[in-house]
Amino acid sequence: MKRVITYGTFDLLHYGHINLLRRAKEQGDYLIVALSTDEFNWEQKQKKCYFSYDQRAALLEAVRYVDLVIPEQSWDQKRTDVHEYHIDTFCIGDDWEGEFDFLREEGVEVVYLPRTPEVSTTQIKADLNGNL
Ligand code: CTP
Repeated sequence: MKRVITYGTFDLLHYGHINLLRRAKEQGDYLIVALSTDEFNWEQKQKKCYFSYDQRAALLEAVRYVDLVIPEQSWDQKRTDVHEYHIDTFCIGDDWEGEFDFLREEGVEVVYLPRTPEVSTTQIKADLNGNL
């Protein structure tokens, strides 16, 4: 069984996220999503989520491509997660191109998937703020 992992915030789950999760799952048989906690988002990414961690996790768990959701609490955990969860492939959108190549040193395949154009949580929030 080929095991895949991806990381992200996935706030206000949208079709760009679903496209990413579908293609990540196609890389293997079992998909783990490491979901940024509210604290990690705020302290490390300066992002305030609309939905709480538990709400975001529940949404992801309802997606057919997702097998397991775990918390992402630090930038460093990737190196240990890939061993703890016996990961074969790490996947993420190509806005992170090149950032996680170091995982190849851990024996993991690293794949950057093209982002879905014209949608992001930030854009949705901005559009709603301006009443579309
Ligand atoms: N993603 C994607 N296509 C999009 C938006 C996101 O493929 N249009 C991917 C990202 O590359 C990442 C994952 O979905 O691998 C989670 O991204 P996240 O940052 O949570 O979503 P964004 O919509 O980009 O959120 P924000 O605007 O807050 O950065």
